[in-house]
Amino acid sequence: MTIGHSTPSPAKSRIANSMGKARILMEALPYIKAFRGKTVVIKHGGSTMDDPELQSSFAGDVTLLAMVGIRPVIVHGGGPQISQEMKRAGIVPEFVDGLRVTGPETVAVVQRVLAGDINPKLVGMLNAHGSAAVGLTGLDGGMLSAQTLVPKLGLVGEVTRVDTTLLDDLLEAAMVPVIAPLAAGPGGETLNLNADTAAAALAIALNAQKLIYLTDIEGVRRSEEDAATLISKMSQAELGELLARGEIGGGMRPKLESCRAALAGGVAQAHILDGRMQHALLLEIFTPEGIGTMVTP
Ligand SMILES: Nc1ncnc2c1ncn2[C@@H]1O[C@H](COP(=O)(O)OP(=O)(O)OP(=O)(O)O)[C@@H](O)[C@H]1O
Ligand SMILES: [Mg+2]
Repeated sequence: MTIGHSTPSPAKSRIANSMGKARILMEALPYIKAFRGKTVVIKHGGSTMDDPELQSSFAGDVTLLAMVGIRPVIVHGGGPQISQEMKRAGIVPEFVDGLRVTGPETVAVVQRVLAGDINPKLVGMLNAHGSAAVGLTGLDGGMLSAQTLVPKLGLVGEVTRVDTTLLDDLLEAAMVPVIAPLAAGPGGETLNLNADTAAAALAIALNAQKLIYLTDIEGVRRSEEDAATLISKMSQAELGELLARGEIGGGMRPKLESCRAALAGGVAQAHILDGRMQHALLLEIFTPEGIGTMVTP
């Protein structure tokens, strides 16, 4: 009886499987080449933060980016967590055009939740995955200076100056800055920044290649209630028209205003991605898959 050279079928399928994996890894090569050494500012929304699996997937993705030489900078929100703490303190959360009305008591809650809770949790999670993450607020190293935006919003800041000295040093040392969106007002007082706005200001100042918003919806919808109206790609001009029509509300408005500012400030691409989807970041950066909404000049 002759025995042929053909490998037994379980081994064959294992090899085929491995080749498939190798192909997927090779597909990432052009993207790694294009983005190595480039800064990517990622805004992590508060709405998906309470899910441990999503947090872990996020931390893994960011660590992988850092390990292949991309420079991730994380800016985080904390909307739902802040609202919850406000209610516990007997303050009723109030929003105008997606921005939180922030009195002196609220700013104390914001600072406590962002800097005392969310930020260290994110840093811990990233470091557990192998990142060298460093937790900061915009107050550190004089990073973010601001003035109050409009009187009716109270202590909500509009960024007037970004000093990237500290961030440049951290990025040079391959560390991953994790930034809570607080800024110093003219008299050194703490101002609350919308995290989307803070991320855009940082992306401009850092000459970022990409600004990525991870949120709790699959992307920008032309009509908020209708998932079938997802916009997968738009130009800066189309974004301007969409905002001018005044139909975008809630937390999406500051995001899109920030995308517009970032593109005008020289950032090459802005993305709004579904943070509820595991590995959304990897799919966006390393594959040709067009997920979420992309805005380009
Ligand atoms: N046209 C629209 N398309 C998509 N989402 C919209 C639109 N208009 C309003 N939204 C709302 O914007 C929300 C996303 O913004 P939101 O501020 O709630 O989250 P976030 O910015 O990711 O988190 P955080 O504010 O905590 O940082 C969506 O959940 C959706 O309800
Ligand atoms: Mg928001």
